[in-house]
Amino acid sequence: MNSPGAQPNELPKEEGKERSTPTDTRTTAVRMAVIGCGNFARRQHLPNLVSMPEAVLHAVCDINPKTAQAAAEAFGAEEAMCCSTEVFADESIEAVVVAVPDDFQADIARAAVEAGKHVYLEKPGGVSESDYRSLIEARDRCGSRVAIGFNKRFAPAYAAAARTLRADGGPRNLLLRMSDDGWRWARHLPSGALLEHDACHLFDLAAWFTRRRALTVYAAAARDDDYSIVIRFEGGTVATVLISGHATMDFPKERLEAVTERGSVVVDDFVELKAFGYGPTTIPSLTFPGRASRKVDEPWVERIGNRGLAGMLDVRRTLWTLHKEHEVAEDSGGPSTSVLPNFLRDQGWYESLHAFVASVPSDRDPPNATLEDAHRTFLITDAARRSLASGQVETVNVED
Ligand SMILES: NC(=O)c1ccc[n+]([C@@H]2O[C@H](COP(=O)([O-])OP(=O)(O)OC[C@H]3O[C@@H](n4cnc5c(N)ncnc54)[C@H](O)[C@@H]3O)[C@@H](O)[C@H]2O)c1
Repeated sequence: MNSPGAQPNELPKEEGKERSTPTDTRTTAVRMAVIGCGNFARRQHLPNLVSMPEAVLHAVCDINPKTAQAAAEAFGAEEAMCCSTEVFADESIEAVVVAVPDDFQADIARAAVEAGKHVYLEKPGGVSESDYRSLIEARDRCGSRVAIGFNKRFAPAYAAAARTLRADGGPRNLLLRMSDDGWRWARHLPSGALLEHDACHLFDLAAWFTRRRALTVYAAAARDDDYSIVIRFEGGTVATVLISGHATMDFPKERLEAVTERGSVVVDDFVELKAFGYGPTTIPSLTFPGRASRKVDEPWVERIGNRGLAGMLDVRRTLWTLHKEHEVAEDSGGPSTSVLPNFLRDQGWYESLHAFVASVPSDRDPPNATLEDAHRTFLITDAARRSLASGQVETVNVED
């Protein structure tokens, strides 16, 4: 497992991949706007952006004026806007983060590109074949850069896993699991929401870990929002994606298991990696700290510490108990709880956005997932949807 000369417990360095850094001599920060200041942007993109020395948050935009104003005040944006056309008309804005609901993502991103902005577009990036085709066409015509928010590629635990797996030829068999309390947080969404909105993260990861093209998909539902999806890739690699919205907050939400030619790797909830079978001297076991994007999260991240899964379980159990108590309080008009264990794990949100921001002044493409990656992920989702309906193995349509 360890490359020659590496210290025990040290993972091989990733080959041939450099993070973008500004290559010119410019000293001014990138002027940014965030479009869509909902739950996710307020928890991650806005606090992360304002802590980046390379960025300045010039404007926030939300169709809801109160949300826009509140975000501007909370994060110190110079302008609060209610319509994305105001953002596009402001020539001082170089790049935008698009974090609106999935149905509106592609149209807003296309308009941004046509206005000459670089775009960090939240996953999935579109909801139809025509969304991806027209966005790719606009990007190529206008020359802007578009990065997709498949942030899990930048999670330190998954980056380390990828280095280990690729050093041994990549995974042959892969399990990616995501199980949470979707029955609670997604109760306002139509059933099937997890397949449409969340599974894309895991489809992207499966393709990214294997660096192979998906050929076929078989999907089975135990019930709504409780799926197992088997993807066969070129070269014979198989990935199983298990996604369930029927777990509870105290359950570790995500797990990766991968088997390569010589060994195997397990990652638990982004905080602990274990590798087996790669070397005579050591069985690497790495822990990864969480990451607090907000002050209120800091004590909880400290409590996870470097204790790996044990630390994460401790925090999950405590927060679950607190949330259950608060749910009773919320029903009677009490305060809602704010700290959620899933946002305490380092899923690469900061690094992913930072890589994009750093690429803006340079002449290099950002190292993030591309629109083509997002399109391929959409095609896997589409095949899974068809397989659920037909009960058959379905072919993944090919892009042009
Ligand atoms: N990468 C991740 O880990 C991750 C996690 C959660 C959500 N997301 C993505 O972030 C996006 C937002 O999710 P959320 O949970 O914050 O949703 P949300 O509903 O809480 O927030 C969306 C916000 O967009 C605003 N909005 C809607 N239409 C708009 C428009 N045309 N112009 C400007 N603002 C508009 C809404 O008023 C709302 O404030 C989704 O695409 C979701 O897939 C990504």
